[in-house]
Amino acid sequence: MADIRNDFLGIKSPNPFWLASAPPTDKAYNVVRAFQAGWGGAVWKTLGEDPPIVNVNGPRYGAIHGPDRQLLGFNNVELITDRPLEVNLREIKEVKRDWPDRAVVVSLMVPCEESAWQKILPLVEDTGADGIELNFGCPHGMSERGMGSAVGQVPDYVEMVARWCKQHTRMPVIVKLTPNITDIRFPARAAKTGGADGVSLINTISSIVGVDLDTMAPEPATDGKGTHGGYCGPAVKPVALNMVAEIARDPETPGLPISGIGGITTWRDGVEFMALGAGNVQVCTAAMAYGFRIIEDLVEGLKNWMDEKGYARVDDFVGKAVPNVTDWQYLNLNYVVKARIDQDLCIKCGRCHIACEDTSHQAITQTVNGRRHFEVIDEECVGCNLCVAVCPVENCITLEHLTEGVDPRTGKAIDPAYGNWTTHENNPLRVVPEPAE
Ligand SMILES: Cc1cc2nc3c(=O)[nH]c(=O)nc-3n(C[C@H](O)[C@H](O)[C@H](O)COP(=O)(O)O)c2cc1C
Ligand code: SF4
Ligand code: SF4
Repeated sequence: MADIRNDFLGIKSPNPFWLASAPPTDKAYNVVRAFQAGWGGAVWKTLGEDPPIVNVNGPRYGAIHGPDRQLLGFNNVELITDRPLEVNLREIKEVKRDWPDRAVVVSLMVPCEESAWQKILPLVEDTGADGIELNFGCPHGMSERGMGSAVGQVPDYVEMVARWCKQHTRMPVIVKLTPNITDIRFPARAAKTGGADGVSLINTISSIVGVDLDTMAPEPATDGKGTHGGYCGPAVKPVALNMVAEIARDPETPGLPISGIGGITTWRDGVEFMALGAGNVQVCTAAMAYGFRIIEDLVEGLKNWMDEKGYARVDDFVGKAVPNVTDWQYLNLNYVVKARIDQDLCIKCGRCHIACEDTSHQAITQTVNGRRHFEVIDEECVGCNLCVAVCPVENCITLEHLTEGVDPRTGKAIDPAYGNWTTHENNPLRVVPEPAE
């Protein structure tokens, strides 16, 4: 049976699934229920200085639903904890005392001044917490308190605060990165330079989820006015996966420990993050939507998959997909595929035809010999995958790799050798190989 115990920065937990800093970890009541359900760890809802901030009394959440009301995207205008510091610290101490085998990490957001960090760090250390996570990334609010969103967007500040924290505490320091930035590698590099032990990502994405067309107010609105909030849930997973991969393969941050966050709902989501280099993962929206007991499926699913694949420990597959992430110019341009339609599965809805006809390469028939029939025309198909994406029947359209003969579209022989854009004859900046002596 697979061993799913996790060690992230020396912080041990019985499994690699932690709850992210958010409402599920707002107080001892929630965290204890989560640990009872089986969560490996919790990053406590972000603490700030007293007096605590206040939250709106109006709706603080918005949502994007699929046609079946499934929650695809989630948005919030909630700030950090609105409870007094002393109450949170007391509860953290009690929870850590009662649950020594679980990871308890404390998220912090205080003003960008060394004295503020110097003041709060010993208080957190005194709780016995396993580590701290620096929240530089809340995309809404906080600016009126002179702190918050800007810090994570300025690598110099990230480095500076990480350095202060390393100077003033013995606890492992995780820097939580905001995705509201052009290139996520810069704050990650800054965190490393500042001495941080690891990074976690992503925090939420600045967003407006919709507009009420009767009141003409963005949603969610309080008393007729709305503001941008933080987007999360399944919809942000692709953004998060890319950012995790970018850091994992950055030669300037080799081996920097990463805690993956963003849209994780199933064990498979978690494994994808870990395959792209995350040492463990954190979950928020899925717990809010379905409750703490999803941890049972996460743990069982992970164990079953590891057993099936022969992975004994989590570390055995962490980062396995990283070498396969590359830049576009290194993709193999000699790799040729054509779409294939399984006529037994096809329900003749015509979606593939119209998608390819209107917006792709006119490579799928609609009628053959006067009868409704969907067939790929190899002379036109570029293997773009659009028809696969729009077909409502799973596996009805697949892509076949051509390994020999001639590509009927280009008339060129299939070249089994790897060839990319950097040396392609159409590339004016191509690297011309030196002639052999
Ligand atoms: C209502 C809500 C409140 C949040 N509050 C915090 C917070 O106080 N500190 C923090 O670092 N992240 C906060 N987050 C961000 C989450 O920790 C997490 O990074 C983000 O939601 C992405 O994960 P998910 O897609 O699993 O929700 C909050 C998220 C939500 C939905
Ligand atoms: S793969 Fe692209 S080009 Fe080929 S049939 Fe499908 S949609 Fe058309
Ligand atoms: S979209 Fe799929 S099911 Fe519909 S006609 Fe095309 S192949 Fe058949």
